[in-house]
Amino acid sequence: MYSEEVMEHFTNPRNIGVIENADGVGEVGNAKCGDILKIYLKIEKDIIVDVKFKTFGCAAAIATSSMATVLMKGKKIEEALKVVNSKFIAKQLGGLPSIKLHCSFLAEKAFKLAIADYYHRKGVDSNLILSKAFNVCAKQ
Ligand code: FES
Repeated sequence: MYSEEVMEHFTNPRNIGVIENADGVGEVGNAKCGDILKIYLKIEKDIIVDVKFKTFGCAAAIATSSMATVLMKGKKIEEALKVVNSKFIAKQLGGLPSIKLHCSFLAEKAFKLAIADYYHRKGVDSNLILSKAFNVCAKQ
């Protein structure tokens, strides 16, 4: 059912945990299944220098969250917004079963909410950032 890459990230997930004093935090729940994901970001000079996540979710949610953190870590926010999207995350994992595709949206949404939170803390209009972040996603 799952690719080797999915199983590898599920059994050995990267960047699990919490960042105290994170610069941005995003939390989402999946309406389809009730699973939850929380992403914590540490950002310096617009570069994501650290990321951690906690999830209460299925194997696909854990694997896609793990892959998403690998994709965003060390990147500028602008670059990370281009690659941390559900389709690209699933592709990097060798694909997902069709009934599990929705799981990959958790990481994308939580990441974008964490970025919006980061800008909001800096005093930038969070609504504007949210719409910008989701527009970046829609263009891909
Ligand atoms: Fe809920 Fe996968 S079944 S995130």
